[in-house]
Amino acid sequence: MPLLRRILCSAAAIGIVFISSAGTPGHAQATNFPDKPPILLGAAWYPEQWPESRWNTDLDLMEKAHIHLVRIGEFAWSSMEPSEGKYNFGWLDKAIAMAAQHHICVVLGTPSAAPPAWLTSKYPQTLRVSENGVRAQHGNRQQFSFSDPLYRKFVYNIVLQMARRYGHNPDVVGWQLDNEFAEPDFGPTAQAQFHAWLQKRYGTIANLNEKWATAYWSQTYDNFDEIPVRADNENPALLLDWKRFVTDTWKSYAQNQINALRPNIDPRQFITTNTMGWFDGFNEYELHSILDMAAWDDYISSDHYDYLDNGARHDLTRGYKRKDFWVMETEPVFVDWRKTNTPLKKGQVIDMAWQAIGHGANAVEYWQWRSAPNGQEEYHGTLIGADGKPVPVYWQIQKLGAEFDETGSALEGTSPHSRVAIINDYDSRWAINFQRQSARFDPVKEMLAFYDPLRTMSQAVDIVSAQAPLSSYKLVVAPALNVLTPVEAEHLMHYVRNGGHLILGPRSGMKNEYNGLNPQGQPGPLEPFLGARVLQYYALANNVPLDGFFGPGRAKIWAEQLTVTAKDPEADHIHVLERYGKSNGWLDGQPAIVTRRYGTGSITYVGAWLNPPLMQKFAAWALHDAGVRPILPNVPMGVEVCQRSSAAKDILILINHDTVTHTIMLRRPMFNLLGNKSMRVGEVTLPKYGVAVLEASPR
Ligand code: GLA
Repeated sequence: MPLLRRILCSAAAIGIVFISSAGTPGHAQATNFPDKPPILLGAAWYPEQWPESRWNTDLDLMEKAHIHLVRIGEFAWSSMEPSEGKYNFGWLDKAIAMAAQHHICVVLGTPSAAPPAWLTSKYPQTLRVSENGVRAQHGNRQQFSFSDPLYRKFVYNIVLQMARRYGHNPDVVGWQLDNEFAEPDFGPTAQAQFHAWLQKRYGTIANLNEKWATAYWSQTYDNFDEIPVRADNENPALLLDWKRFVTDTWKSYAQNQINALRPNIDPRQFITTNTMGWFDGFNEYELHSILDMAAWDDYISSDHYDYLDNGARHDLTRGYKRKDFWVMETEPVFVDWRKTNTPLKKGQVIDMAWQAIGHGANAVEYWQWRSAPNGQEEYHGTLIGADGKPVPVYWQIQKLGAEFDETGSALEGTSPHSRVAIINDYDSRWAINFQRQSARFDPVKEMLAFYDPLRTMSQAVDIVSAQAPLSSYKLVVAPALNVLTPVEAEHLMHYVRNGGHLILGPRSGMKNEYNGLNPQGQPGPLEPFLGARVLQYYALANNVPLDGFFGPGRAKIWAEQLTVTAKDPEADHIHVLERYGKSNGWLDGQPAIVTRRYGTGSITYVGAWLNPPLMQKFAAWALHDAGVRPILPNVPMGVEVCQRSSAAKDILILINHDTVTHTIMLRRPMFNLLGNKSMRVGEVTLPKYGVAVLEASPR
């Protein structure tokens, strides 16, 4: 039997599902440089904050912790260009060379998030204006205007200098543009650009007036210059277009830097930027269309590590390019910007890092190596203390580094693959957030209500845009696809007609691309296809009972009264799966979930925010109906299963996020890459926060 066939057969025998890559194949290793490790441990290092005499000690400690990567430079503009047009790169040359002597490669951050004082004081128009008209000042970071042409010129120049100097340096593996794109500018330049952007989109002011329905409250505009710039409390059409304008402006801001980099750098050096999980300031899919790789800063969302939420944000980031990604920053135990900066528990640092790898990260980088001797972030967690000596977490990270080194070659070439996709749509999230109707209707939480049981049961979920190719998925869930264009609707219908299983959550298909109400009602263009529609939506103060195919449960926060519109529901294979019980009178006995079969595919509309036990049952049904099986069955709650595969092998990463020991039975003996590698094991016992990395292919 040919080798690949044999591997496929043995994998099937042990219940491991091989899935061919969806869309573009994943980045299979940390960098495009074959001489660098396939999985990288790293730290954010700021040599400009320290005397050169200290650097070697730091790099030595890094090397001892198996750190193979540093990110340098992203706030160091005043050190690189101390005065206008006068450059000083000597220190950076030395820092890169010295790091290389310690087998540490470099990501260079472009310094545009922190312009020097000489620049902003001489050219104050480069400073950002807030929504209430206040111009930013020097002394903090992100004070620049993302749209100001002069600022862009200065940025282009400094990036060009860097590109020419380091674009072919074999120790520089990639570039991070700026740092956490976030704050837009509301000043006169941005406003004029917004007007030009609107004119390009709508052609005439009459067309804009029509699409925005400006007769409402006498908003009718006579020309584009009259349109205000607002991010809140405005016509929903303006608000949505403002977000799109902000997206395009960040994209051209990034492109300006890419223009300086691309012609001057080695094609093996990647270009990325560090993103922020659920942050919705602009559309990440648009931005990533011009980047080589996605990266994000993984800081836990609340005062405890919620592994499902954290895993979802990894999946979100992986979805920006539908490829493996990097964790460009993560916390060494605690941060300094929450209300109470509680530490991760001992052991969770390793657990969290392995979760990143399990979800498709090829690098995990700690922010930061050591606190600056002064400055806004003195209290943040680090690996090295104020005395220059390792703090307790250093030893844990050193252990992690050894594990990355040990397993790197096995992980090389592998990526996560999933048969389940959740659609993340920025237009819809923005539209709902502008007009929540219920303050508790947070579109991200609503997405997670679907994600959590789907991820737990299927053990692999992609989070992708509404435009992503869907044919490789058995199940696609659009949790609240509020803004639905005819093109997107056709894309979804094509998926179902070809055997896909589509689930729409509450509030789907309500709005058109101008954030106006769809005249067909909900779910807009999908109504005839579903054979059912929403008659009315209701925000809920109290839970409403539900009953039906999945048994009793509750609707919380939101409930939509559905009705079947098809003439012959039975002939059209339309079924009401769940109905509301007695509540506000309007909902009593009315359909809450409707499904319709199309050959081997189906479309299902869920009109209510289901409470967790009911959502659990619903998700189990949806997965079963779509033919999605878990990677590893019978895994206890709190133990996460991640799989990275290539055509030749499967790697399982099992993580016990729980505080008690669990034993996990494997379907067939596997090699334990963190244990005695030459011996196969049939089960693994994981202590609290314990991790196992297992290989299924013959070695
Ligand atoms: C962000 C920034 C870093 C640092 C950390 C602190 O992610 O990118 O520069 O401020 O937060 O948590």
